[in-house]
Amino acid sequence: MNVVIVKNYQELSVRAAQLVADQITRKKNIVLGLATGQTPVGMYQGLIKKYKKGEIDFSQVVTFNLDEYYGLSPEHPQSYHYFMWDTFFQHININKEKIYLLNGITDNIDEECQRFEDLIKKRGGIDLQILGIGDNGHLGFNEPAIGLKSKTHLVNLSKATIHANVKYFNDIKEVPRQALTMGIGTIMKAEKIILLASGRKKSPVIVKTIKGPVSTEVPATVLQLHNEVTIILDQDVASKL
Ligand code: GLP
Repeated sequence: MNVVIVKNYQELSVRAAQLVADQITRKKNIVLGLATGQTPVGMYQGLIKKYKKGEIDFSQVVTFNLDEYYGLSPEHPQSYHYFMWDTFFQHININKEKIYLLNGITDNIDEECQRFEDLIKKRGGIDLQILGIGDNGHLGFNEPAIGLKSKTHLVNLSKATIHANVKYFNDIKEVPRQALTMGIGTIMKAEKIILLASGRKKSPVIVKTIKGPVSTEVPATVLQLHNEVTIILDQDVASKL
């Protein structure tokens, strides 16, 4: 694992945006795996800035998002569809035919998950996967468990995750209890992975991710088994390493 420690969140965002931009320059039709949450927002803003300066062209870029809440339509303001369009896609020249997100209101879960896996394969696999991390070590929505699933699937969200996400909803009752997520195998098949983490709250889970034993109880520890992972941390989150 290549661990990069920078001063603060702003530097983390600049560094991450530069890494992604370099990969897009290297391969114009790159397949990106994208993440939601607060952590990558600064990176998305950095990429938008680069696009506006004419430094990156997204017209051939393909994207797959990690996950989506089950039961939220793409128009729901807390859906990851909405988040991605609002935060990133609407600001760049990406071709909407090349954007793939899981359908949170599918009436056939197995078919939807298989469709996603098939599309990733058809597009040649993910070249670069961006990841955040949950306080409990989840990747996408792969929650701590006795066993981890390899492929895209429906998952029951843990109590910790439901509580962590209540801030985005009016009431805990509105927080979805399930989500569709790429599996750990889908994530691990990406050629390169960048994980971003910031802030003191996540320092215990970052210590486990980097130094702890590989365990399904901390899903992010599986990244220790991947050959091309870069972890970008700010000083706060890295303080206990
Ligand atoms: C959600 C997403 C994850 C993300 C995590 C952390 O659970 N499914 O992909 O990594 O939130 O979010 P944040 O970056 O806001 O801490």
